Amino acid sequence: MPALCVSTGLASLNDSFWDFYWESHLAFLQGQGKGFAIQSASQILRGSTKPARILELGCGEGQILGSLLQAHPEKIQVSSSMGVDRDDDALGKARRDYPGLQFLSGSFTDARYLSTLGKFDLILLVNALHHAFSDAYDEELGQIDEQAGKQNVAQTFAAICTYLNPGGYLLLFDGVEANTDAQQWIEFRFRHPAGRQRFEQFTREYLPFRIQSQPGSTADSVCLRQRDFTRYITKLIFVGKPLWERERRESYQYFNESEFCAMFDQNELSIVHNEIISVDYERWQDEIELITAGIEFPPEHILLVGQRC
Ligand SMILES: C[S@@+](CC[C@H](N)C(=O)[O-])C[C@H]1O[C@@H](n2cnc3c(N)ncnc32)[C@H](O)[C@@H]1O
Repeated sequence: MPALCVSTGLASLNDSFWDFYWESHLAFLQGQGKGFAIQSASQILRGSTKPARILELGCGEGQILGSLLQAHPEKIQVSSSMGVDRDDDALGKARRDYPGLQFLSGSFTDARYLSTLGKFDLILLVNALHHAFSDAYDEELGQIDEQAGKQNVAQTFAAICTYLNPGGYLLLFDGVEANTDAQQWIEFRFRHPAGRQRFEQFTREYLPFRIQSQPGSTADSVCLRQRDFTRYITKLIFVGKPLWERERRESYQYFNESEFCAMFDQNELSIVHNEIISVDYERWQDEIELITAGIEFPPEHILLVGQRC
């Protein structure tokens, strides 16, 4: 994150300390993507010369704000930093676990509600903005109305950006569409029968889009288009688990990297960090093997930090 780093010997010693710190303190997240977002936010706070007022939208159980507060109490305006979510159960847990912070019930797609919160030095949108896209599920279409969903995302993001202080940062971590040809067929085989069952449950129950597969060249292989393949692998860890009932309704994918960057640009955020990340690569390897030659598992998450000019 070049714009945020201080390139002295002292700073790099400091960075090594924090790498070590986060390695142990994020072990409880077991490799979840939000660990990347927490470390990036930590780097922003370390570079800040005064305590920051932070807002996390779609904060869930508050682990991100809570972890940042534990690591950097002197860098955060604790009493005026807050998390917002529309899930009251998650907020209840956040309040119990991190009593120093405010956790408020509200919707980040509601521009009027946002206008009541004031301005912030750091706004976090971690695994949250895809909800604005998924909310455009259309019963009649039987899938998400893509155009309406993209519009929801763009409008929500534009409204959020207006609550950044000058020089403030917006950190977004979310799913990303692969940069490669979305229509390309990818063939893969299941490493065990349970994998095939999970795949069939996924194609039957994933709600945002109809998943169309084709038989593969062998009895234990199938083909999916690149776009659906990314959808499948990012949902794999949830299929058949308690979270599946909720996860099967959400699409992580809505924008590719260029669309994300254009949205930052349109809202006058200069991008100081852009990273495409694969979170679950090893878990997919355990479940399936790619057959199509020259195809790699697509990186599936994006971490973007923009600074208000
Ligand atoms: C996948 S969770 C991520 C939670 C947290 N950011 C994290 O990474 O630990 C997404 C959260 O966004 C919340 N959410 C979705 N749409 C929302 C909205 N319009 N307003 C507020 N919260 C929303 C959900 O209730 C859920 O808690």
